[in-house]
Amino acid sequence: MQEAVSLLKEEHIKMKEMFLEIERFINGGSSVDYRKFGHHFKRLDEIWENHEKREDALIKEYAKKNNLIPEKSLSEKHRQLRGYWNSIRRALDAKDCEKLAMVLDTDGRMLLERFAFCIDSEEKFFEGIN
Ligand SMILES: [Fe+2]
Repeated sequence: MQEAVSLLKEEHIKMKEMFLEIERFINGGSSVDYRKFGHHFKRLDEIWENHEKREDALIKEYAKKNNLIPEKSLSEKHRQLRGYWNSIRRALDAKDCEKLAMVLDTDGRMLLERFAFCIDSEEKFFEGIN
């Protein structure tokens, strides 16, 4: 389980770096290049998709081993993040720079804020199982 935790922590660092990059796109306003952003977003999606599955599995496994009620809040938070995520996805698919800039300024900022909060609570959870 420790190995799985270490990998998840490494991925958190990687994702946080990618958030900074996304923030740069957001701050670029309507001059956002949707192709470049789309490429970046896809990379983050690939990392996160896999990360999320392993993280949820680890949380369930830990709860089972310790006879705890499975920690619902973390996977619940992941689901909330997907809402913002899908909104950005739709704006990207529309290939409309202005719309994308608007969505990034609202849902994009919310996504980054919640995502960072989510990662922090996960890190606290990992500390507890060490
Ligand atoms: Fe995570």
